[in-house]
Amino acid sequence: MSKIIIKNEEQIAGIRASSKLAAKTLEYIRPFVQPGVKTEVLDAKIEEFIRSHNAIPATLNYSGFPKSCCISLNEVVCHGIPSSRELKDGDILNIDVTTILNGYFGDTSKMYTVGKVNNAATKLIKATERALEIGIEQVRPDNHLGNIGFEIDKYIRTKGYSVVYEYCGHGVGIQFHEPPQIEHSAPQNSGPKLFPGMIFTIEPMINQGVPHVITSKIDGWTVTTKDKKLSAQFEHTVLVTEDGYEILTQV
Ligand code: MF3
Ligand code: CO
Ligand code: CO
Repeated sequence: MSKIIIKNEEQIAGIRASSKLAAKTLEYIRPFVQPGVKTEVLDAKIEEFIRSHNAIPATLNYSGFPKSCCISLNEVVCHGIPSSRELKDGDILNIDVTTILNGYFGDTSKMYTVGKVNNAATKLIKATERALEIGIEQVRPDNHLGNIGFEIDKYIRTKGYSVVYEYCGHGVGIQFHEPPQIEHSAPQNSGPKLFPGMIFTIEPMINQGVPHVITSKIDGWTVTTKDKKLSAQFEHTVLVTEDGYEILTQV
């Protein structure tokens, strides 16, 4: 069993800088999310922005992933590959960016909408963003890791949505994916206790319908909802501090 890395001040500063760049990338791309734009055009702009800040997009060639970010539309839960698909009125999409700056990783994603989006989709997005906030509010020394997922799942059930249990948050910073796994649905007071200097992502994927997902047999990456209903996701990289948390993926 590999162990959770407790980051030192130098590492925290490096991961903070990388995380800030990842967050800035998500802000930078917002005005380009328009009807008629191909998702591979967004990807190219994101790659250029990251490289112009002396950083590298972490997803490019990661386990064979071919692009510089993940773009997941509508029923796509995660790991959507930017393509010649054009955005159209009513689409909802997640853009997930991970940067490597001076060797340090920062990982964040958020939802975008194209043109006029229906009420059900807007509600799903709002609840998913709130679920991430609720998870982050559990981050403090001595609290059990499992309480993040416990509180997220409890909230999402009240909305009638479901938490995707097959993909988790993760330790991040020195590597792209480090221990521990952060489950977004977990028993109360389960898992290890949080400790200052831990850095991990919280990235709930929330489905309108059933929690079950399918991975594309064609590209080996694209994860969709089993029932083809909508899915949404928000992600932050979070540091455990002496008295709570610091969201690192902020502009
Ligand atoms: N950024 C994703 C995460 O939040 C991972 C993408 S891996 C890829 O963990 F290979 F699909 F890009
Ligand atoms: Co992540
Ligand atoms: Co990510």
